[in-house]
Amino acid sequence: MKLFIDTANLKEIEEASHWPFVSGVTTNPSLIAKEGLSQKEIIEHIAKLIDGPISAEVTAEDCEGMLTQAHELYAIKPSNIVIKLPMTVEGLKVANALYKENIPTNVTLCFSSSQALLAMESHATYLSPFLGRLDDNGWDSAKLIEEIVTLKRNFGYPTKIIAASIRSVRHVEVAALLGSDIATVPYKVLKKLISHPLTDSGLATFAVDAEKTAKLTK
Ligand code: E4P
Repeated sequence: MKLFIDTANLKEIEEASHWPFVSGVTTNPSLIAKEGLSQKEIIEHIAKLIDGPISAEVTAEDCEGMLTQAHELYAIKPSNIVIKLPMTVEGLKVANALYKENIPTNVTLCFSSSQALLAMESHATYLSPFLGRLDDNGWDSAKLIEEIVTLKRNFGYPTKIIAASIRSVRHVEVAALLGSDIATVPYKVLKKLISHPLTDSGLATFAVDAEKTAKLTK
């Protein structure tokens, strides 16, 4: 499973750009709003740091407005920009229109299998089911991933699933075990993915023992 970083923070993206396990970035209007720069400025910076898919979200609600924004964002770096679209009828019309133009899309805010089915039928390149927000509200995010993976398999849809709204290491593990193609993960959770207390204590013991051996060989 591929891992993307879910942030618009340039410091975090710069650091993650050196990690071999991070291959893309997702942003949204709320993440952009935290950074004090325009969306265009942020996406332009990210495009210099990451050579992988970069999701940039449109904010218009009508097809025409979404298409105008999509073309402006895509022009920033056509080799990498993915247009993030809302899970609405208008959003899916735009997904289908951009598919015909060979512009990749990411349909976001997916909370049900029926929504997923419609996005995949509309030729979305990526689909983002939101795990954390589902679990926060008492639904079962693992079941949703399992169902979307089954839909993909049943009908051979090429749409890639991005497990989003990730809150924990376990969310990432479950997404991978159930067959999600990608997980987009906040910086703090990405850092936690690699750590384990037994790794830390094991390394400390090895360091002490290596020091003993080093003394003998002097
Ligand atoms: C996905 O692309 C979104 O940016 C993101 O995962 C939103 O998650 P949240 O529930 O943490 O806001």
